[in-house]
Amino acid sequence: MLKLVFFFMFSLLVANAKCCGQDSNDASKSSDPFRKTIRPLLERYCAECHAPGDMKDLDFLAAEKRSDIDKFRDIYASVVEQMENQAMPPKDFKQPTDNERRLVTKWIKETLELNPADFDRISAYVVEAFEDKKGNLWFGTASDGAARYDGKSLTYMSTKEGLIGDTVTGIAEDKEGNMWFGTHSGASKYDGKSFTNFSISEGLSGAGCNFLLDRKGIIWAGTDDGVFRFDGLAFSKYAMPAPTEKMLSHKVKNGKVWCLFEDKAGNIWFGLDGRGAFKFDGVSFTHFTKKDGLSSNNVSSIVEDNRRNIWFGCLSSDHPEYVNEGGLIRYDGANFTQFPEVKGLAANDIYSLYTTKAGEIWIGATGVGAYRYDGKVFTLFDKTDRKFWTRHFGVQSILEDRKGTMWFGFSGGLFRFNGISFVNVTKNGHWQKERDL
Ligand code: HEC
Repeated sequence: MLKLVFFFMFSLLVANAKCCGQDSNDASKSSDPFRKTIRPLLERYCAECHAPGDMKDLDFLAAEKRSDIDKFRDIYASVVEQMENQAMPPKDFKQPTDNERRLVTKWIKETLELNPADFDRISAYVVEAFEDKKGNLWFGTASDGAARYDGKSLTYMSTKEGLIGDTVTGIAEDKEGNMWFGTHSGASKYDGKSFTNFSISEGLSGAGCNFLLDRKGIIWAGTDDGVFRFDGLAFSKYAMPAPTEKMLSHKVKNGKVWCLFEDKAGNIWFGLDGRGAFKFDGVSFTHFTKKDGLSSNNVSSIVEDNRRNIWFGCLSSDHPEYVNEGGLIRYDGANFTQFPEVKGLAANDIYSLYTTKAGEIWIGATGVGAYRYDGKVFTLFDKTDRKFWTRHFGVQSILEDRKGTMWFGFSGGLFRFNGISFVNVTKNGHWQKERDL
């Protein structure tokens, strides 16, 4: 079907060019390598899916001549990235030869004077961010393992170095200063030299491992399979009470543990997929669901402000069918408050919440932007210097470092907040440098 559409559109293009003499200046056409070589190659290998109008934000073929492509600078940088790492065209589709790939990427890089730092992302998805006691910043990525920034350079740790998985969904540091990484296939402890790995034979199962180091120094892990506790040698499953009501809809996997959080009073909170949230006071569990005032039973993030309010980030449901629910909730110990008057804070996916040292709450509102709440007003920040990479505005992780700099992990890369907007952070330099917005 796609192929048919492509053929149809392509014939139209050809017919158009012939009959209407779209390009009256043939001389300029033949001397314009974009029209002569680059665009036809992109049409041949990409137009099937990326024809103008087919994918709203991925309309790079809307650029018809060399001068147009400056306007599409960001997406052309991504075209280079996608073609160089062989991610595009998708595997089962017609592939350009190595030479054709090189031709396209070289021309784009030279023409747009793209230097590698312009498009070398830390990773395309930064799903976790953490600062250790020494002040190193750690970023968990969806496919490149963990990246450490020590203030000078970036080091990657992946399965090649001994990490148990390359999708790092959780990061913590224990009392002894070991780093812990949670992945889709277990957890790794890193003592600065080598990795000790924990998976099913060490009592830990399930994807999406994230951690809580509680005030007693106990390591808790939450995965798609539930809650686990580490006894110093191995993990064991920590039984959660079964929900007493029927809870039917969920986002990813019913029972998945999205988050673990300890409040100032010492209660431990668990945010679950499809099952709401539990509060554990050390003796008994209290269950909170949509019936109590949550905006869905998919609780992806829990934080506390400095007035002891608990904030929940909830997600819409995708199973067994899509339900437009989710959003931000504040719980003051008695009442639940929703914020339908603020764009993106109700009936939306809120994946990440964060409390700064000053007690402000940051809220990642998918598709809308990030809000900062100072106790009175929500201020929206939605400007980035990489509109293309942040087009879905999917904030997956937030961190304030010891200097007060705010870091945002997007599905789209790592961004630093400069007080006004989000500035992309690339591999080589560009840690401090600002680009024009
Ligand atoms: C079979 C369909 C198909 C073909 C052929 C195809 N793409 Fe894609 N492309 C997709 C889909 C689907 C996405 C993901 C859309 C999204 O995430 O919004 C995508 C995403 C992209 C992205 C964005 C990646 C990002 O960072 O989010 C770029 C850039 C891209 N394609 C370039 C190309 C180029 C260049 C070609 C040809 C060499 C090509 N694509 C061929 C289907 C295709």
